[in-house]
Amino acid sequence: MRLSLRFILPLFLVLAGIAYAVAPLVDRLTLGWFVRDLALRSSLIANTLQEPLQEQLAAGKKAKIGEFFNRITQDERLFAVGYCAAPTGTVLASRSLPAEIRCSNLNRWEGPDDHLLPSAKGPLHVAVKPMVSEAAPAGQLVVVHDMSFVTRRSEETKRYVFYVFMALAAVVSLLTVIIAQLSWHGWISGMRSLLRGEGLLRQPEFAAQSTLPGFKPIARDLQRLVRELEAETRARDESQVTWTPEALRTILHSELSGEDVIVVSNREPYIHQRRGERIELTRPASGLVTALEPIMRACSGTWIAHGSGSADREVVDKTDRIKVPPEKPAYQLRRVWLTAEEEAGYYYGFANEGLWPLCHIAHVRPTFRSSDWAHYVAVNRKFAKAMVSEAKTKAPIVLVQDYHLALLPKMIHEELPDATIITFWHIPWPNPESFAICPWREEVLAGLLGSSILGFHTQSHCNNFVDTVDRFLEARVDRESFNVSFGAKLTAVRRYPISIAWPPEAEMVQKTVPDCRSSIRQMNDLPPEHKLGVGVDRLDYTKGIMERLRAIERLLELNPDWVGRFSFVQIAAPTRSGIDEYQHHEAQVRAMATRINARFARQGPPPIVLKVEHHEPQAVYEYFRAADLCFVSSLHDGMNLVAKEFVAARDDERGVLILSEFTGAARELPEALIVNPYDADQCAAALHLALSMPAAEQRDRMRLMRGLVAEFNVFRWAGRMLLDAAAMRRRSRLTDKTGRGAT
Ligand code: G6P
Repeated sequence: MRLSLRFILPLFLVLAGIAYAVAPLVDRLTLGWFVRDLALRSSLIANTLQEPLQEQLAAGKKAKIGEFFNRITQDERLFAVGYCAAPTGTVLASRSLPAEIRCSNLNRWEGPDDHLLPSAKGPLHVAVKPMVSEAAPAGQLVVVHDMSFVTRRSEETKRYVFYVFMALAAVVSLLTVIIAQLSWHGWISGMRSLLRGEGLLRQPEFAAQSTLPGFKPIARDLQRLVRELEAETRARDESQVTWTPEALRTILHSELSGEDVIVVSNREPYIHQRRGERIELTRPASGLVTALEPIMRACSGTWIAHGSGSADREVVDKTDRIKVPPEKPAYQLRRVWLTAEEEAGYYYGFANEGLWPLCHIAHVRPTFRSSDWAHYVAVNRKFAKAMVSEAKTKAPIVLVQDYHLALLPKMIHEELPDATIITFWHIPWPNPESFAICPWREEVLAGLLGSSILGFHTQSHCNNFVDTVDRFLEARVDRESFNVSFGAKLTAVRRYPISIAWPPEAEMVQKTVPDCRSSIRQMNDLPPEHKLGVGVDRLDYTKGIMERLRAIERLLELNPDWVGRFSFVQIAAPTRSGIDEYQHHEAQVRAMATRINARFARQGPPPIVLKVEHHEPQAVYEYFRAADLCFVSSLHDGMNLVAKEFVAARDDERGVLILSEFTGAARELPEALIVNPYDADQCAAALHLALSMPAAEQRDRMRLMRGLVAEFNVFRWAGRMLLDAAAMRRRSRLTDKTGRGAT
C-alpha cells in the first residue's frame, strides 16, 4: 500500500499540474471563438437594422431613433447601439452607449482585431458597420455587445477542463497502480518460487508471464545465480569443515537453532533379547543402523523404531522410551509395538516380499498382496502418530529411513506442515518399468513426495526416481534442479552417498592386527600363515553369496595351488527368516558350501567356513583385521557399508577389497578390485590377484580408500543433509518475508 502511495502521488501531481497549465490556453481559445461569434452577430444586427434605420432617417424621425435603439438593446447581450451619419456629427444612440464611443473615434474599432473596450461591468465588444443607402455610403452603425457572459463561460469551461484532468489523473493513476500491483505480485511469486528452488514454470499464477519472451532468460539467469551461490557456499562450507560428531553438533546449533532431530526407522539400533534368565543386548546387522547410530550419538534427539526384541518391552519406561547406548546414554530410543499380524503384513509382506525384491535387480519376483498393503498403511500411520507425539516444536527435523516407511513423509507433512522431513532411501530405486509392477505405485510415490528432501546413494537412483514420478504422477519435475513439485509441495531429490563413522570406535581397533590374525586363525583351526578371505553379510539373496562361493570354487579349479592354503570365512547373519525365499536361500548357501568343502576336503582346511549366526560389530572387525582380503559380491546394493568398514578396520594399510560393480560403494572406491559377481572367472582372477598382491600395492590402494572414507564419512553425509535442510528453512523464511512485503 505504501508503495502504491509513493507511486500514485507524484503521478497525480503531475497530471494536476498539466491541468493547471492548460487552463489559460482554454481561456484564450474560448475568447477567440466568442469574439468571432459576436462579430458575426453584429453584422447580422447591422443588416437587420439597415432598412428600418434608413426609413426613420428618411422620415426625419431622428428623435425616435434613440428610443428605437433603447428597445432593441433590451436583449441580454446587446449592450448598446449607435448611429453616426458622419465623423463630425453626434451619435444617435441608446442610453447605454459608453461615452468613450463618439462619431469622431469610430475608426478605432474598424480593424479586424481590436474590438474590445474595457468597462466597469466587464469587457465590451464594439463593432462598427458601414450603412448603405441606394448603393451610396450612409453613415456607420456601432453595435456594442456585453462580454461579461464570455468571462463567465470561460470560468466554467476552465473549471470543467480542470475537473476532467483530475478525473483523468485519478483513473490513470489507479490503472497504473493496479497493473503495477499485478506484475509486482507476479514477480514476487516468481522470486519466491525461485528462492524455493522451484523454477518459475511451476507457479500457476505466474505461468502466463513466464511464457513472455524475454522473461524466461531472466528466470533462468536468476535460477543459475541462486544455484551457483549455493554451490559456492556448499564448496566453501565443505572445504572448511572437518566432518566429526562435533561438526555435526555445531551445524545443529548454528544452522538449525538446536532443533531436536527425530529419526524414524523400522529397525532399532539396540535389541533386547531374553535368553532364559538373562536379557541380552544386541546391535543388529543393518547398514542403516551402522550409519545412523553415530549420528544419533552426536545429535542426541529421539530415534523411533519397531521394538522387535523379545525383552524390549521389559526395559522401556512407561512412555516406551529407553536411553541408549547403555554404557553412555546419548539419545532416546522410542519403541513402537507391532502385532504379529502387522509385522507379517507390513515388514515381511509388503516391505520385504514386495518393495525389497522390486528395488533390487536380483531376479526374485516381488509379491504384492492387498492385505499386506493394508497393514503397511496402518503401520506407517502408527509410526506417524508416534513421531507427531515426540515432536517438541511445530517444525521439527525428521529423518525418515528407508522403504518400510514410504508413506510416512506425507502423513507427517499433513500433521506438521512446517516440519523439515529428510527421507533417505537406503536401497536402490529401479527404473520406471520395474517400479510399475507395484500395484500401489502412485501411493508410494505420493507418500515419499511428502518429504522436503529425498536422498539416494547414487545419481542413477535419483534419476530413476525422478523418471518414475514423471511417468506415474501429475507432478512437475525440474530436471535441472532435481526438484519435484507435487500437490503444492516441493521435494528436493538429492544424492547423499552414505558412509560410516570415522575414525572407527576405539574398541573396534583396539586389538592389534597380528593379534587378530592369530586369534581368528586359531579360532577356526587354521595354520598361522593360512591365507584368509572374509565376507560379512546378512544371509540375503541380494548379497551374491552363492556367486561368491562359486568364484572361490572357480579359483581353486583354476589355481589348485590355493587349495589347502586359502580359506574363506563367510559370516552370514540370519535375516527375515519368516520369508520362504530367505529360507530357501539359506538352504542353497549351506548346500553349496558343503559341496565345495567336500570337493576339496582331502587337501587340508576347508576352503569355506560358513558361519550362519549373528556377530557383534567388534567380532566382525576382528575378522576384517585378520583377513587378507574381503569379498563384497552384491548383485545389487544401494551402497554396501561392509566395504567401507573393511577399509576403516585396516589401519595397517594391508588387505585387498574385491568389490561388486553393482554396489554404490564401487563408485567411491575404484582402488578396490572391481568385479562383476555374475562372472565367476573374473571373480576367481580377482581372488588370485588379491592373494598374490605385493604389500606395497596393497598399501597404495588401501591408503587411497582410507583417505576417501575418512573424508566422506557419515558425519558429512548427515551434515550435508542437515545443511541443505537449513538452507531450505532459510529460503522458506525468506519466501514468507517476501510474501509479506508484497502485500
Ligand atoms: C538393509 C535395509 C535396512 C535394514 C537392513 C537389515 O540395509 O536398507 O533398512 O535395516 O537391510 O534388514 P532388516 O530387515 O534385518 O532390518
